[in-house]
Amino acid sequence: MLAIIGGSGLTRLSTLAVAHREVVRTPYGDPSSTLLFGQIAGRDAVFLARHGHGHTIPPHRVNYRANLWALKEKGASAVIAVASVGGIRGCLPGDLVLPHQLIDYTSGREATFFDGGEGSVVHADFTHPYSPELRAHCLAAAAAAGIALADGGVYGAVNGPRLETAAEIDRLDRDGATLVGMTGMPEAALAREAGLPYCAICVVVNHAAGRGDSAAQVSMEGIARVLESGMDRVRALLDHVAPRIGTAP
Ligand code: HPA
Repeated sequence: MLAIIGGSGLTRLSTLAVAHREVVRTPYGDPSSTLLFGQIAGRDAVFLARHGHGHTIPPHRVNYRANLWALKEKGASAVIAVASVGGIRGCLPGDLVLPHQLIDYTSGREATFFDGGEGSVVHADFTHPYSPELRAHCLAAAAAAGIALADGGVYGAVNGPRLETAAEIDRLDRDGATLVGMTGMPEAALAREAGLPYCAICVVVNHAAGRGDSAAQVSMEGIARVLESGMDRVRALLDHVAPRIGTAP
């Protein structure tokens, strides 16, 4: 079953025909929202709103462990995360980008299921953080649907909730990050630890701080405008991705 974690602008998934909802408790506390189970394009799917259904949980307060644990526990076999990001290089506001790599700048978040105590020490391989198979499904679905989806990008995960300084964005750029967002980690790593194939569809909602029309400041009105149209395309894309899950890419 495909799991979708919706971010800002995607707290509801209108294309999901909801069959039932479930409040899940986990050893790590409560997930961000009730889980919505149903069908997308006739395929079983589950939806979780990363920031809560009312969009009240900031990125640094998201219980990423509870979210991933709940999805795994309830039968998810793959996770597609949807996230809004700032564009640093090679992309423009409005673009959809499927990153192939990430750099983690977050700190102070509960970032592992392998926290010592019982069992042996585990180091999950994370060389390629995003599932190549899931990425291939997304790219094929985008091509079939005629939806532009850029293949590749490096997601720089920052703590937030404040936006970055121009110098911080310059540093991320020098590091090789092409996108910047606040929720990509530890979500991706926890999915890996849980054995869940994971990829992220990113909606570029603004030029990163100091770049393009964010040279002087990042406009919240601009973000809101781009977010809505971007998420409409993401919903359409997910309709084409869902039937491919579980098939060979
Ligand atoms: N920076 C960090 N996170 C973001 C941004 C940004 O510019 N835009 C959307 N999420």
